[in-house]
Amino acid sequence: MTAVGIDAIEIWTGNLKLDLPGTFAPEKGEDPEKYTKGLGLNASSFPDSYEDIVTMGANAAHRLMERKGLEPDDIGRIDVATESSFDNSKPVSTYVAGCLEQVYDGDFHHANKGERKFACIAGTQSLDDAYNWIRAGRHRGRSALVIATDTALYARGDAGEATQGAGAVAMLISEDPDLVELSTEQGYGSADETDFLKPNQQFPSVDGKRSVQVYLARMREALEDYESVAGDVHPDDLAYIPFHTPFPGMVRKAGLLGYRHITRETSLEDDLADEIGRQPREEAFDDEDAFRDALREYMDALKGTDQYREWYAETIEPTLSLSREVGNWYTGSVHLARVSALKTALEADRELTGETLLVGSYGSGAQAEIHAETVKSGWKDEIAALNIDEQLEDRYDMSWADYEEVHDVHNHEMDVDVEEFTTPEAEFVFDGWGRMGERK
Ligand code: HMG
Repeated sequence: MTAVGIDAIEIWTGNLKLDLPGTFAPEKGEDPEKYTKGLGLNASSFPDSYEDIVTMGANAAHRLMERKGLEPDDIGRIDVATESSFDNSKPVSTYVAGCLEQVYDGDFHHANKGERKFACIAGTQSLDDAYNWIRAGRHRGRSALVIATDTALYARGDAGEATQGAGAVAMLISEDPDLVELSTEQGYGSADETDFLKPNQQFPSVDGKRSVQVYLARMREALEDYESVAGDVHPDDLAYIPFHTPFPGMVRKAGLLGYRHITRETSLEDDLADEIGRQPREEAFDDEDAFRDALREYMDALKGTDQYREWYAETIEPTLSLSREVGNWYTGSVHLARVSALKTALEADRELTGETLLVGSYGSGAQAEIHAETVKSGWKDEIAALNIDEQLEDRYDMSWADYEEVHDVHNHEMDVDVEEFTTPEAEFVFDGWGRMGERK
């Protein structure tokens, strides 16, 4: 069977930065270590006044097409995954295609375009759609462009404010991919939940503490479902486990849950349920405060063991390096985690061809998905071509007053105008509704 997977990837960060320990913490009167150690975040990426989900997505896609020498005719499908859409009818992929058509001679008239929504997991669902389209033989030799783009903003003062972020990840899905091949096996954990939602509103209504429990419960179910089709997972068989990363502290918990499960010692939930004195184990997840306290104690004890520390340092920690600097990118987040891991391997001169990644995606509302990926021989060139370090370095570091202005500019209910903080350079810019995506 021909391999199908991610051939190339490109990242576009919002051009602004909010320093969490330096700017956010003093303003909130909090200890900076709450953010750096507790949540595991140093900074958030923000969109400048001329950036939005369309411009960031188009900029990432344009870089990807240029680097791979592609023309519009090579693309048979454009899917945008986002939970920051501004149009309930016309998909964001049409706006992105409109931007790209300004710079190519050809157009995307014969490409199927759409928009995928299921909170953060939509990026992975779009990958699946592209994979299925190619596997079904409907692609006529063409590739799919999958773009995960979000401005993950919370209302000011919301507990989620520290986890904001903005950026886009563009992926090319093809036969014989250079980066990773996707497994046909998948596992799901899915249930109707109301821990994080945006019913006709821009900023989410979030039950933050509950959302953490729901993430862990669905992820455990997805892992069990995955093993029911792919067989048992063993910790030594995995190079990295990129998880959806709303903030690195969440992945510390997910890593622990995964480790307990795949080392086949007693499950984390059983241990915690015993500790809390609640059976069956599902009830332990419902008692949020008790679960949280028990989990914290439990993690502290396990973190003390060399075996877990080494496994975590090798398999999970490398997936978090980009997320620490940019915050939550919603649909793009798990795809950034994959890039972080591969980038760490490249910098350490580690050979990964043929090795396995186990990818844990998640979207509130709520669904988790687990699949495996096999690293392909072109991975080094693909990762070496990224310029994400320069992009992060070039961001404008906002003062608190700048941040408040920029947050208002991106609030759809406010009509505010501010000067841009950075100068767009050879990129698509948002120049007012109806004049979107002009390239400057
Ligand atoms: P909070 O109340 O600001 O923070 O909200 P906290 O008091 O829970 O503290 C956070 C951590 O910092 C804790 O660690 C503290 O102990 C620690 P933990 O016990 O959890 O391991 N801490 C410190 N550490 C060191 N030094 C200190 C210090 N102080 C505290 N001085 C919350 C945290 C996650 C609730 C909030 O950020 C939130 O509401 N976030 C938004 C929701 C979210 O991200 N949920 C994650 C799971 S759901 C998901 O991933 C889906 C999502 O991406 C959306 C989608 O799918 O579309 C969000």
